[in-house]
Amino acid sequence: MPKQRIDKILASQNIASRGQIKNMIKRGAVTVDGITVKRPDEKYDAEVSRIAVNGNEITYKKNIYIMMNKPKGVLSASNDKYEKTVIDLLSPELKRKGLFPAGRLDKDTEGFLLITDDGKLAHQMLSPKNHVYKLYIAETDKILTQSDADKFKEGIKYGETAFLPAEMKITDKNTALVEICEGKFHQIKKMFNAVGANVLYLKRLKIGNVFLDENLKPGEYRELFEHEKIDILQRTKSI
Ligand code: URA
Repeated sequence: MPKQRIDKILASQNIASRGQIKNMIKRGAVTVDGITVKRPDEKYDAEVSRIAVNGNEITYKKNIYIMMNKPKGVLSASNDKYEKTVIDLLSPELKRKGLFPAGRLDKDTEGFLLITDDGKLAHQMLSPKNHVYKLYIAETDKILTQSDADKFKEGIKYGETAFLPAEMKITDKNTALVEICEGKFHQIKKMFNAVGANVLYLKRLKIGNVFLDENLKPGEYRELFEHEKIDILQRTKSI
């Protein structure tokens, strides 16, 4: 990793504000490999050096990965002139970090949204070629049948758009679990439309092998655990 200014490294780790960090450095509170840092513009490789503040070593995290339970009524976007976005729901410290939602859930869709600054992982997770399945629960306005599920399995055609074969499992008259590895615009709503149903409620429950944390209320979020950064790219199927 290229060397970076120590004040920038510490700010990126939410240690304190840039101003407070400058003061900490002035006071001699910051050390790198045991040696006191004298100036905020000294450069280090954060992945190699042992950086400590007031004697406490920091665990350097290159990227941020946030699991959000996206609420209804909020846009999956980084910013919007008029409407509230998922980034607006984050704390001021996190808002500064250039985070973006990895893929989109519609404004009226709820559930698991990954928010990160890791473009590579986002691409791996979203690319249909990688077969990372996303599990949704959908409530519709129609009593669903096995013949509808069979059509999902064959691969739905919607106008000019062809969707890859997908699993749909009816859980209750008009409610079903659906698993897809693509993320085309309004995909699940269109797939149900193609079998004569309108989606009334949609929630994403799982990405790869990571379930949405049931302790997160709509609008709440937490960082991914280490193992979840690996599990979120698994090709695990649930139905
Ligand atoms: N499919 C949809 O139609 N909407 C979503 O938000 C996600 C998948």
